[in-house]
Amino acid sequence: MSSDSEVDPLTRRALFEQVRRHTGIVMNERKWPMLDGRLRRRLQALALPGYREYLGLLEATPSEVRDFVDLVTTNETSFFRTPRIWHYLAEHFLPSWHDAHPHQPLRVWSAAASSGEEAYSVAMLCEEFRAAHPTFRYRILATDISDGILRSAATGHYRGRSATGLRQTHPALLEKYFSTDEDGTGIRANAALRAQVTFRQHNLYQPPRDVGPVELTLLRNVLIYFDTAGQQAVLENVRRAMAPDGVLIVGESESLSRFHAGFVFEQPLIYRQGTAHAQHA
Ligand SMILES: C[S@@+](CC[C@H](N)C(=O)[O-])C[C@H]1O[C@@H](n2cnc3c(N)ncnc32)[C@H](O)[C@@H]1O
Repeated sequence: MSSDSEVDPLTRRALFEQVRRHTGIVMNERKWPMLDGRLRRRLQALALPGYREYLGLLEATPSEVRDFVDLVTTNETSFFRTPRIWHYLAEHFLPSWHDAHPHQPLRVWSAAASSGEEAYSVAMLCEEFRAAHPTFRYRILATDISDGILRSAATGHYRGRSATGLRQTHPALLEKYFSTDEDGTGIRANAALRAQVTFRQHNLYQPPRDVGPVELTLLRNVLIYFDTAGQQAVLENVRRAMAPDGVLIVGESESLSRFHAGFVFEQPLIYRQGTAHAQHA
């Protein structure tokens, strides 16, 4: 395997280009140490001498693209990430939506779901809401570009920071919707909660198939990885999957203020599908 200094700028650029081609994620030289750190292990596992050979393999072997995508995506997430959002959903969105649509099941899309914490957080909120409103029904679709992370998400099994975080912030929900491993470290979403979430691979750059219309979309902490044109394309795809008046929630460092994307600002991080009288954050 070639040493760091032997990876010439052209090869690095070719790798960045592959990342962009397969995921839409834009990387530059500042990201090289991270990308190198992730891919180097793969090269070792494949016993390849260097990145040129790896690029050749990537071009010739479609199945390698799957592993490549798993490696280059950043899956950082947690249960109930950004508390304000969950407060809005529980206190405002769910009651007003159910009032307006008492007989309609709510369709939710966690559009860059990573290891599933976001989707299971929505599921827990919906279950709590249903306990107080027995006619309420909902379904959650959770998609991500990475097959590997979705396989993990579907198990509903968590260790480390995710498990510790939920234990600290929402002990009552943990008790109600998860079981704890015998050794006391890991937690697993119970079958009833898992049954509310369908996990499926989907690249946000592709037009959504069999998605929608959804009334609530969580598109959080993923737009930051794309350039402006990419964000615009992804937002248009997401908009097409949403019901008129559907709500879109983005991540803490994301805003649609630069876009005329068919979403109306409602409050920070929260937008509504529509164009009339658009205000921008
Ligand atoms: C940082 S995580 C965000 C997880 C969660 N939404 C949250 O806010 O905690 C970003 C996720 O976006 C996914 N992703 C990156 N590019 C994507 C694309 N083009 N289409 C779909 N998902 C993508 C990654 O695989 C990763 O799981």
